[in-house]
Amino acid sequence: MSEASPPTVLVTGALGQIGTELVSALRERYGSDSVIASDVREIENHPIINNGRFLTADVLEKDSLKAIIEDNDVSIIYHLAAILSATGEQNPELCERVNIGGLANVLELARVYDLRVFSPSSIAVFGPDCPDHAPQITPLNPTTTYGKTKVSGEVMARYYWEVHGVDVRGLRYPGLISWKAPAGGGTTDYAVDIFHHAIMSGKYSCFVGPNTRLPMMYMDDAIRATLELMDAPTESISDARGGYNIAACSFSVTELVAEISKVIDPFECTYSPDIRQEYADSWPDSVDDTEAKNDWGWTAEFGLEKLVNEMLTNLTRAREVEA
Ligand SMILES: NC(=O)c1ccc[n+]([C@@H]2O[C@H](COP(=O)([O-])OP(=O)(O)OC[C@H]3O[C@@H](n4cnc5c(N)ncnc54)[C@H](O)[C@@H]3O)[C@@H](O)[C@H]2O)c1
Repeated sequence: MSEASPPTVLVTGALGQIGTELVSALRERYGSDSVIASDVREIENHPIINNGRFLTADVLEKDSLKAIIEDNDVSIIYHLAAILSATGEQNPELCERVNIGGLANVLELARVYDLRVFSPSSIAVFGPDCPDHAPQITPLNPTTTYGKTKVSGEVMARYYWEVHGVDVRGLRYPGLISWKAPAGGGTTDYAVDIFHHAIMSGKYSCFVGPNTRLPMMYMDDAIRATLELMDAPTESISDARGGYNIAACSFSVTELVAEISKVIDPFECTYSPDIRQEYADSWPDSVDDTEAKNDWGWTAEFGLEKLVNEMLTNLTRAREVEA
C-alpha cells in the first residue's frame, strides 16, 4: 500500500524570528522537499536557505504568490510575513500595507485554491481597556497601528471561515523568546536582547522600566502551539479561531533580571524607557488561555526559570561554536 504524499507547505516571512524555527519543525515533519520557505529578503548563509527550498516572494505581490501556489501545488500556508510593533509604529503605512494587504492576498488565494492557513495574531490586539489578565473575549481597542492590523487580521480570518469556509487559524502570540534568530522589531525584544548582553558584557540597558510585566513564551512552546493548533480537528476549533489566547509565563523585568543573575553574576540592568514603554503599558500583564486548553489541549512547558536556563545554555554554546 502506498503512503499518501505529504502536503506542500508554503511559509511566508520565513527568515524571521518565528520562521527560522517553524520551517525547521515543518521540514522535520513533512520532509525538506515539501516545505517552501519564502521571504521578501535573502540573508547570506541563513540555515533556512541552506537547508531546503527557498524562494524570494513579497506577500504584496499576489501574482508571485499565486505562481508559487500553482507551480508547487501548495495546500497549507503559514503566513508569518509582517511588520512588528516597534518598526510598525515608525512606519504605520507600511505596517498596514504588509499586515493587512499581505493577509488579504493570502486569504483570497486560499479561497481560490482551497488552502489551509495559519495567520498569527498577537497580544498587541489588546488595549488599555482590557483587564490585566486578558480574557479571550474582551474589547479589542489597541493603541498601536500594529495592534489594529492584528485585530483586522482576526476579523478577516473569521470572515473567510464563516463566508467562504477557508480554514484559517491563529494564535495571539505573547512576546516570544528565542536564541536561534534575532527578534524582529517588536516591543518585547528586550526579553531577547537582555540574554545576549548578559552573556557578552554582564550589563544591559533596558528600553522599558523594571516593573513592566508582559505575557511571554519560549519559542519551543510557541512552535508546538502552532503545530498543535493546526493539527486539531476542525470541529474542536471555536470562534476563537482568528486568535486564540495562549499563555506560558508572565514576568516583570526585575524578575527576569533576578533569574538571569542566578547564573550570571554580576549582572547589571539599567533602565532607559523609550516610546516602547507606552506600547508595553497598553498591553495586559497576562492572558487567560482557557479556550485553547479546552478546545485543543494547549499547555505550556516553559516557565521563567526553565526558559532562562535554556536561553543562557544555548546562547553560550552557540557563541562557543562561533568563536
Ligand atoms: N516574535 C514575536 O514575539 C511575536 C509576537 C506576537 C506576534 N508575532 C507575529 O508572528 C509573525 C511572525 O513574527 P516574527 O517575530 O517572526 O517577525 P520577524 O520580523 O522576525 O519576521 C517577519 C519576516 O517577514 C518578512 N517580511 C516583511 N515584509 C514582507 C513582505 N512584504 N513579503 C514577504 N516577507 C516580508 C521579513 O523579512 C521577516 O523576515 C508576525 O505576524 C508577528 O506579528 C510575533
